[in-house]
Amino acid sequence: MVVRSIAVIGSSWGDEGKGKVVDLLSGKADAVVRYQGGNNAGHTVVVNNEKYKFHLLPSGAIQNKEIIIGNGVVIDPEVLFREIEILESKGFTPNLVISSTAHVIFPFHRYLDGLEEATKKEYAAGTTKRGIGPTYSDKAARYGLRIYDLTEPDIFKPKFQRLFNLKKKVVQAIGADWPFNVEEIENQYLEYGRKLKKYMKDTTYYINKLLEQNKKIIFEGAQGTLLGIDHGMYPFGTSSITWAGGISAGAGVSPKKIDKIIGIIKAYTSRVGEGPVPTELGILSDSKKGDPIKENCVTDADIGHRIREQGHEYGTTTGRPRRVGWIDLVSLKYACILNAYDHLCITLLDAMGGLKEVKLCVKYKLDGEVSDQWPIQSEIIERCEPVYIKMPGWEALPAEKWTDIAAKGYNALPEAIRNYISKIEEILGIPLSIISIGPNRSDTIIRHNIW
Ligand code: IMP
Repeated sequence: MVVRSIAVIGSSWGDEGKGKVVDLLSGKADAVVRYQGGNNAGHTVVVNNEKYKFHLLPSGAIQNKEIIIGNGVVIDPEVLFREIEILESKGFTPNLVISSTAHVIFPFHRYLDGLEEATKKEYAAGTTKRGIGPTYSDKAARYGLRIYDLTEPDIFKPKFQRLFNLKKKVVQAIGADWPFNVEEIENQYLEYGRKLKKYMKDTTYYINKLLEQNKKIIFEGAQGTLLGIDHGMYPFGTSSITWAGGISAGAGVSPKKIDKIIGIIKAYTSRVGEGPVPTELGILSDSKKGDPIKENCVTDADIGHRIREQGHEYGTTTGRPRRVGWIDLVSLKYACILNAYDHLCITLLDAMGGLKEVKLCVKYKLDGEVSDQWPIQSEIIERCEPVYIKMPGWEALPAEKWTDIAAKGYNALPEAIRNYISKIEEILGIPLSIISIGPNRSDTIIRHNIW
């Protein structure tokens, strides 16, 4: 079978290392497409020890591939132009296409994000405050503006003023300040519109045409399956469809045209934001970035701190320290069923080095009953107790050692890691085809061909 399109999907709460995998696979691709989310995402790609951080642009950007932002994405033009500038300053010329029907984030969407979170109290998701939720809300309510609107001043002005006045009334009705000036935003966004025109296309026709021409496309997921609006842990997630089902709606491509779906899993669990995480390793509020790692980690807090430091688990978008926990095969099995992955990629095995023993959650216990089914409702998950199996851990190694191991291949991995991988494959029933043991492209072992 000729593989024309591959989807790369996060299996948990985001930050599984999708950016690196997309970057790696995009070597053979012609185009990389983002189809949901916005600049709430953050992918770090490391090439020759230089770090590139993206929030909105697809990760294929530094491979000089065509990069496409589909209709399902919400776009903050300020962020978009900043990322284009960064790329250009590093000598890349982004070959960018943007959907005319992607929705636009305005400054008051960011402001509303904070106000809305404050009213949600214990149900606040801990959002990135980038205005993602309020923009998708306006899209669903059919008040939102699309990229096309910005490029047509006569269409833009009345639509924008309607939206501006509506938001102003709502905010003032709850007694909050409204620190925005209509003309200032209008002028700024019309200027963005002028600059956006050259990138804008009907991406549905465009992407389908590329596939017809046998071009190779990667659909790059943002966030992770458990953060999705319908199948994630509602309301502690984001506002878009984060599993592979979101590709069709967010890029205008039939499900029949997605040839392979790759699930990214992390060697452990991480989470930014609120909501229950059954396998969480204690509350790490006492440990701070840079605190020394204990040689012999016994308590959950010490183990969690080691993993957080070794895995650099601090948000790419907000810098927030991430919560960390043991791998959760109950939620991962759910992601495997939902996405019907062809392959899995496991990342950050190196970051778990230095532990005598590691744990894998294989079931949940609830009210005396044991089950391997993800309970979906956050209130039920909150009450679940993880059932673990234990396996021997592996050594912490310096970065160059992991790179050496990757160059030698799978059999050079420590035996404990190979056993850990086999156990995960046995439980999830999907081949772990890509093994990532460091941030660089070269720190990767590919066991089965993807393209
Ligand atoms: P929002 O997407 O900013 O509305 O945030 C909703 C929830 O999703 C919060 O718990 C965020 O921390 C989380 N979230 C959003 N984007 C990402 C991401 O790219 N990685 C991890 N978590 C994310």
